[in-house]
Amino acid sequence: PGVLRVALLGYGVVGSQVARALVENADDLAARSGARLELVGVAVRDASRPRDGVGTVVPASLLTEDAEALVDRADLVIEVMGGLEPARSLIRRAIAAGASVVTANKALLAAQGPELFEAADAARVDLAFEAAVAGAIPIVRPVRESLAGDQVRRVLGIVNGTTNYVLDQMTTLGLDLSDALAEAQALGFAEADPTADVEGYDAAAKAAILASLAFHTRVSIDQVAREGITGVTAADVVAAATTGHVVKLLAIAERTAEGVSVRVHPALVPAAHPLAAVHGAFNAVFVEADGAGPLMFYGQGAGGRPTASAVLGDLVSAARDRLSGGKGSYESAYASLPVLPADAA
Ligand code: NDP
Ligand code: HSE
Repeated sequence: PGVLRVALLGYGVVGSQVARALVENADDLAARSGARLELVGVAVRDASRPRDGVGTVVPASLLTEDAEALVDRADLVIEVMGGLEPARSLIRRAIAAGASVVTANKALLAAQGPELFEAADAARVDLAFEAAVAGAIPIVRPVRESLAGDQVRRVLGIVNGTTNYVLDQMTTLGLDLSDALAEAQALGFAEADPTADVEGYDAAAKAAILASLAFHTRVSIDQVAREGITGVTAADVVAAATTGHVVKLLAIAERTAEGVSVRVHPALVPAAHPLAAVHGAFNAVFVEADGAGPLMFYGQGAGGRPTASAVLGDLVSAARDRLSGGKGSYESAYASLPVLPADAA
């Protein structure tokens, strides 16, 4: 087969697992993609720092601090560095040069997605983001593609692994929030700034992305009503248990008569409800559609290997699309359903 050059932006929790899979599973990925996916470089902030897998699995010579030059020599760019900048500029640069992009960056998509999707559409390249919502769970593709002929009414679920882990540890082990959060950080579930998790910004970004896809409109993170878990105390989880409930951080997006309403907040979930059985950093999303009825998606919502699985699935798809002529980001499928402001949700 031919060769597609892959640039990896970021070698952290997710990027290191993506790099490992690209090297160790190269033959399978080539067979599934139709081309060899050659890792041509890995951009990091500090290329001199010793890292797991570098020098053993991944040649040290691939590490670079010059992300722009790396992007310029790639057919496929994987952005797993996070944050708004330079991630946005690098993705714009990749698209402008005709490269396809795979990203796990929900914060960027929920803030500036439309601009990036329009650029990808105009360039006829993929901008894929399955890993941006609910880690390993295939949810973006089912909502965007499998349900494209149905009318989605509601999307509801647990979409942040860190806060689910924290609430779970508070409930089952009596840990306090800060100790449980430190564990979640050590396990690689949390964002670089975990405020994004505990204050609900990460769940709000994912809710905005899911609502945009489910309701064929554009929802930005500013339109999501948001309350995190920093106000949830040990006493709250104990009180919930005494009434047969557990505390969960829920994301809820609904189509109402007035428009689309999206919110994230802690909620009391009855102990017998399936969401109460979502433990650790797992996520679960319920989708209700007119034709399909209720659907449930469940799996690992955070962590390096689960997220790398979603990234690699997108990468294989993007490679196939390039070999068959490219297709764009589906942004053109968006209509203009009104979105209610956050204070009305
Ligand atoms: P990490 O903080 O572990 O890794 C980030 C990597 O990007 C590091 O290697 C860092 O370099 C590099 N990087 C950051 N900024 C720059 C920059 N300006 N220039 C060059 N390199 C840079 O993050 P994660 O792997 O946890 O997350 C990456 C992305 O994936 C984020 O968008 C996150 O939201 C998303 N995501 C994460 C999940 C998870 O479970 N962790 C799950 C789903 C999505 P250096 O190592 O030198 O500091
Ligand atoms: N910090 C995120 C979470 C990573 O805990 O869910 C997965 O998107």
